[in-house]
Amino acid sequence: MSKDRYLTFALGKGRLANKTLEMFEQIGITCHEMKDKDTRKLIFVNEEMKMRFFLAKGPDVPTYVEYGAADIGVVGKDTLLQEQRDIYEVLDLGFGKCRMCVCGPASAKKLLQHHEQIRVATKYPVIAKDYFYNQKNQTVELIKLNGSIELAPIVGLSDVIVDIVETGSTLRENGLEVLEEVCPLSARMVVNQVSMRMENKRIVQLIEDLKKVL
Ligand code: PRP
Repeated sequence: MSKDRYLTFALGKGRLANKTLEMFEQIGITCHEMKDKDTRKLIFVNEEMKMRFFLAKGPDVPTYVEYGAADIGVVGKDTLLQEQRDIYEVLDLGFGKCRMCVCGPASAKKLLQHHEQIRVATKYPVIAKDYFYNQKNQTVELIKLNGSIELAPIVGLSDVIVDIVETGSTLRENGLEVLEEVCPLSARMVVNQVSMRMENKRIVQLIEDLKKVL
């Protein structure tokens, strides 16, 4: 396809986007407009390189990429597993490392071992369902929450949670612990399926450049 077409990147807001931009700088891709912290602009352009960047809520990044509104996205593996979009996952960027775990009070360990029908609170019902139903063959009651998941077992909403553990300090400070590990997580680069064909040269080059600085 012509060089004049913009390559559009959707980045998950927050730490992931900052780390992604640092990594892109290392391979010569910059976007000065994006460094202005006070800006209310939503989309940032590097005219010279024919690239556009925008920030989106993490769970929306795979959606933008699947529909081709963005050619490329950077998002956590947790979001990819939860959203189940038809996109290519092309690269593990190696940052944003953490784990998806089943957590709860130590007393919940025996409920897991005995395959009891427990209540599981989570922001990630697709991941939790796959883990309990397909991997463990355990029937559970899933309760979807939108944040501060650690609260659920403390106030008696659920027996355990399925949530992200990074340093483990949120768990420790709330008297909870990791009971089982579901899977490791990190930031991933994803690509729209049509873009991968139409812009193959540019995208493959980008992947190769990024691999060198990983
Ligand atoms: C995430 C996650 C845990 C916490 C884990 O929450 O859901 O609560 O970070 O980090 P730690 O192991 O280093 O303590 P986040 O801050 O993204 O907010 P949320 O609770 O609203 O999901």
